Amino acid sequence: MRILLIAVLFLLMPKSNAEIPGCDFFDTVDISKAPRFSNGSYLYEGLLIPAHLTAEYDYKLLADDSKEKVASHVRGCACHLRPCIRFCCPQYQKMQKSKCYGDMSEDELNKHDPFVNVTLSDGSVVRRHFKEDLIVQSDLAKPGCPRMYFLNHELPGNEFTLFENGSLLRHWDKVELSKREYCVQHLSFKDDSIRIAPHFCPLSSEHSRTWKTVAIVISLICIILTISVYLYVEKLRNLHGKCFICYLASLFLGYFFLVLNVWKYSSGFCVTAGFLGYFSVMAAFFWLSVIGIHLRIKFSLASNCLHRLLPENPFRAYNLYAWGIPLIMTAITYTADQVLKNEKLRPRVGVGKNCWIYSLLYSCDFSS
Ligand SMILES: *[C@@H]1O[C@H](CO)[C@@H](O)[C@H](O)[C@H]1NC(C)=O
Ligand SMILES: *[C@@H]1O[C@H](CO)[C@@H](O)[C@H](O)[C@H]1NC(C)=O
Ligand SMILES: *[C@@H]1O[C@H](CO)[C@@H](O)[C@H](O)[C@H]1NC(C)=O
Repeated sequence: MRILLIAVLFLLMPKSNAEIPGCDFFDTVDISKAPRFSNGSYLYEGLLIPAHLTAEYDYKLLADDSKEKVASHVRGCACHLRPCIRFCCPQYQKMQKSKCYGDMSEDELNKHDPFVNVTLSDGSVVRRHFKEDLIVQSDLAKPGCPRMYFLNHELPGNEFTLFENGSLLRHWDKVELSKREYCVQHLSFKDDSIRIAPHFCPLSSEHSRTWKTVAIVISLICIILTISVYLYVEKLRNLHGKCFICYLASLFLGYFFLVLNVWKYSSGFCVTAGFLGYFSVMAAFFWLSVIGIHLRIKFSLASNCLHRLLPENPFRAYNLYAWGIPLIMTAITYTADQVLKNEKLRPRVGVGKNCWIYSLLYSCDFSS
């Protein structure tokens, strides 16, 4: 009798820590607040989830597949029944600098764009309301990095495809991200619109801002030390030494604008900083070529005939060449930036929050 009672109790007890067969954790939603029918089905956001697609969970799977213990709750495999959209934060919150940020105000709710383009398995693209047409998953763990990039599909190269099965295709490197690796959220853009934008972690090969800064600052200090030595030691103050100092000086300026850009200190004079940075980097390369040419002439076997090619005042000629051509190139770039109408051909200095010539890698941004 007692054994029977225990057996009955055991059968009546809800299975805990069970998993839904064939259903990835990242395809489930917390349905514990949804009404439950006597036959075990749940009605979640207008979607009937049959009993065999539900189970009790006492953990939450993190992005790296480790488990975090949470209070026991029922989850349903909703994404096998209707396409899901994987949010970073609760569904009406906004994302700001990779953080979930309060609920949207009335005003923001009125003007936000609730639609996303979903690509179906047959390749057709449909417009879907995030709340009415899709199942919002907002209790999944965010991708495991403190700062995330976002995509603004209006910037060139920032396009993305959101598939019906929940994968996200990033167009610029053709990488497909799973729901573990990205999430979407409402985001305020500079043009004052609020749209749903995908967020994802920086590529693992990218170095953090701190390490970039440390590396650049060490370079800057070493450049200053080298310049000091060349200025101090009299033997080094020859033509080669002077060229080398000019090279180091332009390299110093280039790195200096780069570190300003990393920390966004140059945003007040963004376009100017972009052109100055471009000019310094170009000048550095031209001084490097001057050093090459000069050494070639100096050590050349046929030195006599090459020496005759040297102008009266070589250093002045070198200066004209190594500062002049970058200056002309900068002028051409500036003119192109002003004149060209085609966005793809324009250098777009200072576009996309980066005070440099626009490039795809630089166009992704951390903060909004
Ligand atoms: C469970 O009950 C609901 C409501 O009565 C019904 O709509 C649904 O079809 C039932 N599901 C199954 C699997 O019987
Ligand atoms: C969705 O598609 C429409 C039409 O192709 C386009 O105008 C719109 O910018 C797209 N929106 C997003 C968020 O990709
Ligand atoms: C999702 O669908 C896309 C396009 O149909 C496909 O390339 C991709 O492999 C699918 N991803 C998964 C995880 O099934």
